[in-house]
Amino acid sequence: MAVLWQTGIPRQIYARLYCSWRRARREARILSSIFRRYGARKLIEFGCGIGRHGYLLNQEGFSVLLTDVEDWRFGVARRLPFKKVDILNSDGGVGGDFDGGYAVNLMIIFSYSDMVRALKNISRIIGRGIFVADYNFELYSEPRDVEVRIGGRVYRALLEEERVVPVDGGVRYSYRVKVVDGINRVVGVEEASYPVYKKEVVFKAIQEAGFKILDIVWVTWNPIKYMYELSRGESDSAFMVMVRA
Ligand SMILES: C[S@@+](CC[C@H](N)C(=O)[O-])C[C@H]1O[C@@H](n2cnc3c(N)ncnc32)[C@H](O)[C@@H]1O
Repeated sequence: MAVLWQTGIPRQIYARLYCSWRRARREARILSSIFRRYGARKLIEFGCGIGRHGYLLNQEGFSVLLTDVEDWRFGVARRLPFKKVDILNSDGGVGGDFDGGYAVNLMIIFSYSDMVRALKNISRIIGRGIFVADYNFELYSEPRDVEVRIGGRVYRALLEEERVVPVDGGVRYSYRVKVVDGINRVVGVEEASYPVYKKEVVFKAIQEAGFKILDIVWVTWNPIKYMYELSRGESDSAFMVMVRA
């Protein structure tokens, strides 16, 4: 099992910090307008994490199968069908006639060769359907100190370490975030690293995996609101719509 990204931050706190309903709603709206445009209704999500995007799309009338290498769905997303799929190692034995698939915040965790591998497996699963994935082609400025209140308790996420090193086609970003409670007790740590490739490199990986890009919805990362905003022109991030070439 290839687990490249993990968090030690408790799910409830993680959800509030990094995948708020506001953020998931914004991203689900972008996905739903794409899938409607292409007439795709039966969808599969890869690397679903806590599962909010799938839950929201399901509420909008799409049929969604959530998948991830680990099941860490949280709250209402547990009501949706789920299958464990390690997208780096196989097509997960997922049967089903999908009109499309998507992944949010997944491609970014992969090295170039893993990105190609994952996309090839995704292509096997969705066949002629469309696949939508976001990517941030530039390094974001991450917040240093974020406070959230959950059930009357205060938690702070502190960015303790950050490192950027050049790699072929971009940079590798490493970080360590510590979450503490109101009396400074550590309740969770997330320590990870991921590459940030330039758009030409990501487009090349997509092509190498046998996909062609049909459409790009450009978005800009807003570090204060901690979510994407639609952009009129080319920007730091994008939702790429692709289909088997
Ligand atoms: C950065 S999180 C994003 C989660 C969610 N999509 C979101 O936007 O909040 C990356 C997700 O990819 C999953 N993942 C990591 N390696 C994977 C693999 N090989 N196959 C499938 N999912 C994987 C992790 O378990 C995690 O849920």
